[in-house]
Amino acid sequence: MTRPRLRATGLATAALVAAGLLATPTAASAVPAKPTPAPGKPKAAPGKPKPGKPCTPRYSPGAPSIGDPYFPDQGNGGYDVKHYDLDFSYDPATQVMDATATITAHATQNLDRFDLDFRGPEITSLTVDGKKSAFSRDGQELVVTPHGKLKAGKKFTVVVKYAGVPGPVTDPDGSIEGWIPTDDGAFVVGEPQGTPAWLPSNDTPTDKATFRFTAKVPEGLTAVGNGQLLSQRTRNGWTTFVWDSTEPMATYLATITIGTFEVTESVTPSGIPSYVAIDPRLVAGSANAVSQIPKMMEFFTGKFGPYPFASTGAIVDYAPQVGYALETQTKPIFSNTASVGTMAHEIAHQWYGNSVSPERWKDIWLNEGFATYGQWMYTEFNGGATVEATFNNSSNYGRAATSSFWQVLLADPGPMEMFSSIPYNRGAMTLHALRGKVGEEAFARILRRWAAIHRYSHAATADFVSLAERESGQDLTAFFDVWLFQKGKPTSW
Ligand code: TRP
Ligand code: ZN
Repeated sequence: MTRPRLRATGLATAALVAAGLLATPTAASAVPAKPTPAPGKPKAAPGKPKPGKPCTPRYSPGAPSIGDPYFPDQGNGGYDVKHYDLDFSYDPATQVMDATATITAHATQNLDRFDLDFRGPEITSLTVDGKKSAFSRDGQELVVTPHGKLKAGKKFTVVVKYAGVPGPVTDPDGSIEGWIPTDDGAFVVGEPQGTPAWLPSNDTPTDKATFRFTAKVPEGLTAVGNGQLLSQRTRNGWTTFVWDSTEPMATYLATITIGTFEVTESVTPSGIPSYVAIDPRLVAGSANAVSQIPKMMEFFTGKFGPYPFASTGAIVDYAPQVGYALETQTKPIFSNTASVGTMAHEIAHQWYGNSVSPERWKDIWLNEGFATYGQWMYTEFNGGATVEATFNNSSNYGRAATSSFWQVLLADPGPMEMFSSIPYNRGAMTLHALRGKVGEEAFARILRRWAAIHRYSHAATADFVSLAERESGQDLTAFFDVWLFQKGKPTSW
């Protein structure tokens, strides 16, 4: 909860700077980008060129947050991460992680200081471009003051070494994520704010990057990460796994889960390599769901367009205290036996949620509504209930108008309801109602265009509304009003 204090300090500093009372923003300042000059003084003091002297560029700290009200400390300003490289060992017997994180980024403003999000173990050293840098920690904020200033556009590398016992993060709704020790390793998930538990990062879906994990674990255990397995070597009783994610990924979708796994490698009919790791205790119960991954990949590719990633698969681990599955990029993860419906949901997320991520967490229906609709479509395709029947059933449109289910805004459900049935079921219902409104052809185009236009990026609800209007040629103001922007059960649209 450092943000309001830092903001206030920053504004005070900005005012002093503008009034010419401070030569440069101080280290205590957290002014995002450029402080506004005071009225009547268009050119504020510090950068003011003396006649005949070259202009001295102004440097300031990057913002400590991106300003998502659901998780006010998440993300940071002033730079853009390109790549995370995490090289670590983990011993489940002691739960100690010993890690080196190398973060490659470029400055998006003149920076004299910036924040990373980190809740992990004790930092033993931190360098920027090879030089020891001052840092301090305040809650989730890791505040880094590089030895040299970073000019806008400059590429820089941060190396953070840390060692200790990482742990879980608890959300406002009581759910846990982050680094969750299990009886044979660790279950690692990050939605919505768990990744800083073990990786110093810019923890926002609006700053995607590529990732490489090099994980050393006791021989006999497997470390399973996103992307492709580059190598696996055992020496002196430890096995090192190298995992490579070559497409941009949001931090919340990262995993490097450790445990005893039965591994099956194969290739889908379209030639996409698949790596499935299942806790031996859950193999029998998950076999049906896992065996349908190739069929799901083909079905969704037909509906949504090309699969966005270079590999697929799944991780089925035993972490019953978690109680949910997550669409970790390229390899959905399950905390208990995987079901067919949930597998379809998590595979659908690879297009919607992972390749196209929400700009702000209030846009969560763009993830959960789309994945749930994919699940409904797959169920129908697989010989189960039709989408129309699911839309109408008692978990969906069949709920009484008086139900609390209708009393939350779908376009901004709040941090307590972001993983409730509201974004999932009402989100999917919104898509089905849209399909009825715009017709089969326009709806099919909308689904595919949404995945294509925002591939590897992020988007907001307003972007979806304008795409739907563009593709259908209809004014959908009244439609989206009743489905997204108003409370209450829609009765006509
Ligand atoms: N997004 C996940 C899914 O749809 C669910 C999920 C992620 C979740 N984090 C959560 C559910 C926290 C409850 C609490 O599969
Ligand atoms: Zn989901």
